[in-house]
Amino acid sequence: MKDQVSNTVTTIKPEIVTQPRVVEQLIAGQATSDGDGVKLTRVLTQGLQTRLDPFLMLDAFGADDPQDYIGGFPDHPHRGFETVTYMLTGRMRHHDSAGNSGLLQNGGVQWMTAGRGVIHSELPEQEEGRMEGFQLWLNLPAKDKMIAPWYKDIQSDTIPQFSTAEGATVRVIAGNSHGVAGAVQRDVTEPLYLDLHLQDGAVFSQAMAAEMNAFVYVYRGELQIGDKAVPQQRMAILRNEPGSDGVTLRANGASRALLIAGRPLREPIVQYGPFVMNTQAEIFAAINDFRAGKLTA
Ligand code: FE2
Repeated sequence: MKDQVSNTVTTIKPEIVTQPRVVEQLIAGQATSDGDGVKLTRVLTQGLQTRLDPFLMLDAFGADDPQDYIGGFPDHPHRGFETVTYMLTGRMRHHDSAGNSGLLQNGGVQWMTAGRGVIHSELPEQEEGRMEGFQLWLNLPAKDKMIAPWYKDIQSDTIPQFSTAEGATVRVIAGNSHGVAGAVQRDVTEPLYLDLHLQDGAVFSQAMAAEMNAFVYVYRGELQIGDKAVPQQRMAILRNEPGSDGVTLRANGASRALLIAGRPLREPIVQYGPFVMNTQAEIFAAINDFRAGKLTA
């Protein structure tokens, strides 16, 4: 049957991978809560920030009970990095001090560059039903940490996607895959953010340079990477093996996963809650600016 989705790209270039990466480590993540009592799993924790530079955090949230998400994330500040929220199911309303407002819903992405600072809220716009998605934090290079805030709502039907003959459907949120440019591009860190929907037995290859830090998070089913099975709700850190040229995944049953990669900044990371800078002095400045009401664009 012909795919009617307007954002589906039909001409694709296969990625050639001859020296695939192996799994270095499997990570289960930590159950926690954030905002006003939103239950979530912190998959990429602070202890992995250097290993997975330029990524600072990945939260997975998924709840059927409104009590686990209804409080949302009331007004809070950010400085020094970008937040990328991918909503699989549910509706979340965003407001920020730069005057932006948007509704993030089923399959959509919100990309927010905090830069020198925003105060924003992320509140559920539903009182029942399932809420499921991810929030990724992407660091900014030192030279860009104090840029003006920026924000983009990317509706689901505008995210470029393609399907392969091997049974993979790929949504390209950032970067490039199989010659398809994603919804967002960034220089310096060159983030790749793919949402993979794989049929049972599907094989998917993605070329990437050995120095890119990369991981896979399986949120449905199970993947096989080399001789390692990666079960549901596990993150696989992919080894930066010198000479490797990409990653090859095989689905053990129908599966879905995020494949995320980026070029490390190799700059000092100093985090204090929602502020991520390069020095302690810059953190103190962020706290002082916030208290003085100067984080409002
Ligand atoms: Fe936030």
